[in-house]
Amino acid sequence: MRTETPKTIFLKDYKPTPYLVDSVKLTFRLHDTETLVRAEMRMKPNKASKTKSAALELDGEMIKLLSVAINGELLSTGDYDLNERKLVIRKPPAKAFTLAIETQCDPAGNTALSGLYMSNGMFCTQCEAEGFRRITYFYDRPDVLAKYHVRIEAPKRLPVLLSNGNPAASGEIAGTDRHFAEWDDPHPKPSYLFALVAGDLASVHDRFTTSEGREVGLGIYVEKGKESRCAWAMQSLKASMRWDEKVFKRAYDLDVFNIVAVSDFNMGAMENKGLNIFNDKYVLALPETATDTDFQLIEAIIAHEYFHNWTGNRITCRDWFQLCLKEGLTVFRDQEFTADMRSRDVKRIDDVQDVRARQFPEDFGPLQHPPRPSSYIEINNFYTSTVYEKGAEVCRMILTLIGAKAFDKGMQLYFKRHDGEAATVEQFVACFEAASGRKLKQFFRWYEQAGTPQVAASGVYNAKAKTYTLTLTQSVKRLKGQKPKQPLHMPLALGLIGPDGKALYNGMVELTKAVQVFTFKNIAAKPVLSLNRNFSAPVVLKRRASEKDLLLQLAHDSDSFNRWEAGQELAQKLMLERYHGKEANKWPQKVEALAEALRQPLADPHLDDAYKAKLLEFPGFEQLLPALVKDVDPARLNAAHTDFISTLAQSLESSLREIYQSTESTAAYLPDDAQSGQRALRYQALGLASQAKAPWVDASLIKESISATNMTAEYGALRIATRFENPLAEDLLARFYQSHSADPLLIDKWFAAQATTPGENSAARVRALMSHKDFTVKTPNRVYALLRNFIGANFNGFHAPSGEGYRLAADVIIAIDAINPQVASRLATGFRTWRMFDVNNRQKAQGELQRILAAKPLSPDVFEIISRTLKA
Ligand code: TRP
Ligand code: ZN
Repeated sequence: MRTETPKTIFLKDYKPTPYLVDSVKLTFRLHDTETLVRAEMRMKPNKASKTKSAALELDGEMIKLLSVAINGELLSTGDYDLNERKLVIRKPPAKAFTLAIETQCDPAGNTALSGLYMSNGMFCTQCEAEGFRRITYFYDRPDVLAKYHVRIEAPKRLPVLLSNGNPAASGEIAGTDRHFAEWDDPHPKPSYLFALVAGDLASVHDRFTTSEGREVGLGIYVEKGKESRCAWAMQSLKASMRWDEKVFKRAYDLDVFNIVAVSDFNMGAMENKGLNIFNDKYVLALPETATDTDFQLIEAIIAHEYFHNWTGNRITCRDWFQLCLKEGLTVFRDQEFTADMRSRDVKRIDDVQDVRARQFPEDFGPLQHPPRPSSYIEINNFYTSTVYEKGAEVCRMILTLIGAKAFDKGMQLYFKRHDGEAATVEQFVACFEAASGRKLKQFFRWYEQAGTPQVAASGVYNAKAKTYTLTLTQSVKRLKGQKPKQPLHMPLALGLIGPDGKALYNGMVELTKAVQVFTFKNIAAKPVLSLNRNFSAPVVLKRRASEKDLLLQLAHDSDSFNRWEAGQELAQKLMLERYHGKEANKWPQKVEALAEALRQPLADPHLDDAYKAKLLEFPGFEQLLPALVKDVDPARLNAAHTDFISTLAQSLESSLREIYQSTESTAAYLPDDAQSGQRALRYQALGLASQAKAPWVDASLIKESISATNMTAEYGALRIATRFENPLAEDLLARFYQSHSADPLLIDKWFAAQATTPGENSAARVRALMSHKDFTVKTPNRVYALLRNFIGANFNGFHAPSGEGYRLAADVIIAIDAINPQVASRLATGFRTWRMFDVNNRQKAQGELQRILAAKPLSPDVFEIISRTLKA
């Protein structure tokens, strides 16, 4: 842990390194606490560097330097400087040379899960973003691409030895109980894509023949006994490989592709070249252990990591400021994959819900940053929803603006121009300019300007002239000390709907100015405006739509996104009216009108069940915050939200019951769209009915959980019971624990269900659960299950006026920071909305934030998040 004040890194300071690494030969002698690493690098001066005969400054931390040699000659300590994070060789040769470095590290003692560490007796690595420097001294940055050859020596009790690329050799080490394996990766790569695994693992195998005729051996490695849970991941992998060939014309480029599942992992998964490493919750699935949502996530994340092979690995990033170049684009690609595999309409709604629930709150508050930031303290803090999801939205807008054909041409040009390079966002966008002949200079501001734009719309119909004049205004809220924001170039798909529900106009406008007027001719009747169809731009719409207009859209909008959106808009309006106590006497009727409008699509046999389930989901608390701006009373907001849901659910009760009864199924479980849509609708209906306190719900919950043949049903019932404080909850929890206490992923679910049980005293319950024998702060999945869920998904528990929620969060952040800063820092982002609450909550949150900031030592990760959260 560093103690000095953390340093800020700026995009404008980018400089190429004075030397490059052509190739590196790594030898690992694996031992739990004293692993030896030998790195032999072929170095050469970098022609692109302007600094001549410079010192060679390599990154390294948490490792012990044993020796350094240049061209075979050992250096003495006078030849280099060594500090806690750098090895500086003062006068390296002016011509190409070899550099050999020997270091030692302690995988068993590595609780940060960055670099080489141990998980359940196996060795594994995580090098993105800056973990390789915990393995050896190196240019640990993405613009230094080298060819890797790796030799792993390990005890025979760890039979599986894996690294990147193709297998090259393996055998015994004579006279010892150890063996070795060698791997060769022909594709030059940056150090963050290096990976190594050594363990006593089971595996399943399959094959794939690429469109170029290459035979690829596919392997998935898991803990012994879990082989039967890999089938879905393998099927998803093959589907991803096929899809990328068909849609992006990208084929795989090695003889093997391996996936390893580990149970201690900071994030979802990692795209290391030829050796993806996964959090096991995104690999392992059987109908009786994983929910439909788990199956869908596995499919999407397997695809995401696989797609990185081209967008991220073959073309990587020049520096970490360009992170969205690989992440935004790869999320866009995995979204398109899922849209092709499942329902495109429902997937779009899913993704927008995600943007609103995670990206908007980030973009609205103190942690806001553009998809391409211009400075950071700790890059690990920038694997954010803005970089990933807003980054994907920006790619999607390019597609919308220039059309599918030009977009495809631009992508192919990008692959052709930059294969084997470390690229920038500018270079990416230039490919679409070249392919489309359009200027994207103003559009580029999306990458550089933070904040969610607000678009206000007002339309005037002229009955005589039969024209509809639409005035659009865009603006972005400025935070303290920010420069004025500039107008963005945004595609806005729109439709004008006649009073009979028929389309009067369908098309798109491009908004480029702060205020812009568009006139539509030959509009036969006064229309209802359907704007930002399919969420064509990631903005917040401000318009004065009457309840009548919204109900018309809900019944007739031909854009399935905006049809759904109309229900959302109306629901949000009603929640806010309840919060403000406006027109209390008319309120129940308005809710009834929404219920009435929902009954029709719910009964429509032409609509997918998954879509109907979406119609029954409504905005969460966080989504309401921006509209309330400040001084939010969390208890009152919770009450308004709950009142809305239960009133609506009461009106809909008979429909909900009908849905529940008609979605009973005896078919063998499949995680496909049809079945999972049906189950989504079923449990959504049951959950709402439980909030209406419908008398038939309790018996159904008991039946669901006792006779469940799949986890979607079993966990669905448990969540409903715990979420809505059903008296059956304790019983169902005990039953769930009893049946699943041997399965870590299900114990996570058991903790998660309790973390999200609402109530102002839930901090005490969560604190007590931290003493449960199955709780550990060392496994991120467990911490996230209990604490990220409490902080991020238990609104009135975390924001309890007593301040107990904030106190618990601060205690945990401080404790976990000492062992795993990345996890602590993710939890710390939960405070990002603190300024929006009333003075009591604000004071309590501020006190806890200051307490965290005063903790010593404090990682740069948490320092950056908390200091920004307190400042803005
Ligand atoms: N690049 C990974 C992805 O998006 C995510 C990632 C970045 C990651 N840093 C990490 C995963 C650290 C685990 C740990 O697919
Ligand atoms: Zn990614």
